[in-house]
Amino acid sequence: MQVDVLLGLQWGDEGKGKIVDALAPHYQIVARFQGGPNAGHTLVIDGRKYVLHTVPSGIFHAHTINLIGNGVVLDPVIFRRELAQLDEAGVEYRHNLVVARKAHLILPTHRYLDAASEASKGAEKIGSTLKGIGPAYMDKTGRNGLRIGDIHLPEFASRYEALKKKHLRLIAQFPDIPFDLEGEEIAWMESLDALRSLPLVDGEYFVHDAIVAGKRILAEGAQGSLLDVDFGTYPYVTSSNTITAGVCTGLGLAPRHIGDVIGITKAYCTRVGSGPFPTELHGEDGEFLRRAGQEFGSTTGRPRRCGWIDLPLLKYTIMLNGVTRLAVTKVDVLNELSLIRAATAYRYDGKIHTQVPFDLTQTPVQPEFHDFAGWEESLEACRTEDDLPIACRHFLTYIEEHLHVPVSMISTGPERESLIER
Ligand code: GDP
Ligand code: IMO
Ligand code: MG
Repeated sequence: MQVDVLLGLQWGDEGKGKIVDALAPHYQIVARFQGGPNAGHTLVIDGRKYVLHTVPSGIFHAHTINLIGNGVVLDPVIFRRELAQLDEAGVEYRHNLVVARKAHLILPTHRYLDAASEASKGAEKIGSTLKGIGPAYMDKTGRNGLRIGDIHLPEFASRYEALKKKHLRLIAQFPDIPFDLEGEEIAWMESLDALRSLPLVDGEYFVHDAIVAGKRILAEGAQGSLLDVDFGTYPYVTSSNTITAGVCTGLGLAPRHIGDVIGITKAYCTRVGSGPFPTELHGEDGEFLRRAGQEFGSTTGRPRRCGWIDLPLLKYTIMLNGVTRLAVTKVDVLNELSLIRAATAYRYDGKIHTQVPFDLTQTPVQPEFHDFAGWEESLEACRTEDDLPIACRHFLTYIEEHLHVPVSMISTGPERESLIER
């Protein structure tokens, strides 16, 4: 059995949580393979909104096992808060949530380091979510990290202390920032109990055995391909491989087991944090998208930067990921517009290009646009492709023909039900 992948093709927040929740009944396992609580995946079920940061988005389906894979970095405090949210909603998760022993822990001092490092960058700051992601992955690759499986070791406390001391020596090199380390540490230590109460697994064997048993697995991406540490808009990226390749290292999966790759894009584009954004709209059109799409970060509440859909960037991320089908979300956000635009190429160095330059930060590009007439009506009643207004179908057809990948899902609202499958 192959492992299907679902991941974001832009700068995150494409609506991954909603689509994973919709697909989860077709899978026996949903697995997160990278990222950590920098992610905020929103699900709207029976009118109630849930935001997941670490827990995979299949958790609302009792028959789907949810695996937090080895590629994830986990903050026990945030994780415990997520579990409390599930407890409060009456969601039973003790039978269907498992954590890979090789996933890494985010320590309070990782967050402290993240904040100190960002503060020291001034105007050059990444715009990090300040969840300690960068420092935690640095410790992983620097071979200093603490892993989930380590919490059961007798020497866990001393290893924690040693790593904390190392961090404090580093923090001393940055300008002073306020951080209640003592309070944060108490909460962190207490939260480990939530982790201790859940089944820990050797994720690579767990996934392998499931494949042999013919189980269907969906890998759930976090962030987006343009935040990938190798291929994103470096240095304005996150610290993990967010692309399909990350599924192999983040779950312990051999490449030949990768099946369908579902790439998600909004019908427009957003970015939260710093960094280049060729189709960004300043002024009224950007304001409109932000308001209509309620574009405020699920993790930090920050206003998201908004712009038109960018087809050269999507072509690039489709290539990197081997995308076999597309899900286009938030199409309804464009309902009121009389003019909709899509970037089809870039002008830079005095020429028109369809490829993305080495460094978008250093090479300002001028997008070339294709214009579409808007449909200027609600999509609320649309349940099949044929219900969609002609102008909307034309927009979607243009996208799939330009990108050479079929659009297999069209999302027309935040709720579970607002989804057209083709
Ligand atoms: P994720 O990080 O990719 O899971 O996306 P987020 O949850 O951070 O952001 C997506 C936001 O858009 C959430 O508030 C969703 O509830 C909402 N959303 C998802 N799909 C749609 C859609 O088709 N239409 C509208 N209007 N909202 C959507
Ligand atoms: P989901 O999974 C949108 C952005 C941050 C910042 C940069 C680095 O919800 O799509 P980090 O905290 O990783 O050091 O931040 O990446 N970022 C996201 N933007 N959605 C996300 O996740 C993001 N996770 C990180 O805003 O610009
Ligand atoms: Mg999000």
